[in-house]
Amino acid sequence: MDRIRIIGGAPLKGTIRIGGAKNAALTLMPVCLLTDQVVTLTNIPDLADIRTMGGLLEHMGVHVHLNGADSAEGRILDLNASGLRDTTAPYDLVRKMRASVLVLGPLLARHGQARVSLPGGCAIGTRPVDLHLKALEALGAIIELKEGYIDARVEGRLKGAQVNFPKVTVGGTENALMAATLAEGRTIIENAAREPEISDLATCLRAMGAQIEGIGTGTLTVDGVDSLGGVTHAVVPDRIETGTYALAAAATRGRLTLTGTGMDLTEALVDHMRQAGVVVEEATDGLLIDATGGEVRGVDVMTEPFPGFPTDMQAQWMALMSTASGACMITESIFENRFMHVPELSRMGADINIHGGSAIVRGKARLSGAQVMATDLRASVCLVIAGLAAEGETVINRVYHLDRGYERVEDKLVTCGATIERLSG
Ligand code: EPZ
Repeated sequence: MDRIRIIGGAPLKGTIRIGGAKNAALTLMPVCLLTDQVVTLTNIPDLADIRTMGGLLEHMGVHVHLNGADSAEGRILDLNASGLRDTTAPYDLVRKMRASVLVLGPLLARHGQARVSLPGGCAIGTRPVDLHLKALEALGAIIELKEGYIDARVEGRLKGAQVNFPKVTVGGTENALMAATLAEGRTIIENAAREPEISDLATCLRAMGAQIEGIGTGTLTVDGVDSLGGVTHAVVPDRIETGTYALAAAATRGRLTLTGTGMDLTEALVDHMRQAGVVVEEATDGLLIDATGGEVRGVDVMTEPFPGFPTDMQAQWMALMSTASGACMITESIFENRFMHVPELSRMGADINIHGGSAIVRGKARLSGAQVMATDLRASVCLVIAGLAAEGETVINRVYHLDRGYERVEDKLVTCGATIERLSG
């Protein structure tokens, strides 16, 4: 298993280009199941999760063609589901990646049936899909859970309905939205997630002919249409990759320009970074982060659905706060088990105490390098940030998590002065 070795202590300086958002691409790819025409996605990041979703779609008979690698527009993915032959998402693929459940809504809407393995729990929580299923049932789907699979079908077409989510769910909103585009009549989705990835999905669906109002708000109104056409759509920049490098700059007291991204995607984070004393400014085609002034102060954070502070930035924020002056409280309100990075940060000298869903972090002048273990994607990158800021050598084990969501992380950091390398085997 690959490991990453870092010699910390050097401030990051330079420019990093941000790629397309993993979590947007993962919901845009199943959109191809809603049409028999070609869906072309540009600005596709080169990530393990994207390859897994490609593999799942191919398994169903979708023609998946990747081209334009390293072009100015990023990688381009052509998806053509006109020859679909299978509506099953098998256990072996779903267990690798929970986002596989996003094929459920589009398969039901256009093909009237779907058999999708139930995703199990994962390192950050139990992560049920009950709200996805209730939303699809409201649209007329008949759903049975058998032998570890979600067996879903519909007599005729899905029917527009009122869908009220009792809790904000990104994936649930995505499944309901995709399904509603081809349902008969009007669907109103209340308490919809407002993440930029949802707006990106809705914009893409609209370009295919879907009738959607309320994009970017908590109420999405969808008037079902008979069919959707092809589209060429650029994946929104990755706000979590943006935030991750912004916090790496801050933790090393460096200065980075992040291009191919935008301030509007990361307002809650920018706000907290400024409160902590980090300079964040808009730059041409992106952001400038400057922490060379030295002092970073402790600032409390509570994770919330968008536009609140993202749960996907909580671990990275904790790495920064471990180097801040003063204490702060970090509260995780989305997932019940998303503090797996705490014992690893503690091995690097961080002073963190967990009380239920909150962690008190007392910043230290310097962390020290250590052997640590990655437990999930964002925990892995939090350890990279801590390693870059720490004195001495850090070796991160189980870095395959990192490859699920960060493209060429070592290359990007090396060009900004980091000493970081991958150790194979
Ligand atoms: C998406 O997961 C992201 N994944 C996650 O990114 C992200 O952390 C999360 O949204 C929250 O922003 C993708 O987009 C592929 P949810 P998702 O449904 O859709 C509960 C990363 O590191 N819930 O918004 O699975 C759930 O357990 C990842 O890139 C139910 O109870 O998240 C959680 O507590 C990890 N029943 C809360 O809602 C349901 O049916 C929010 O989950 C669905 C969710």
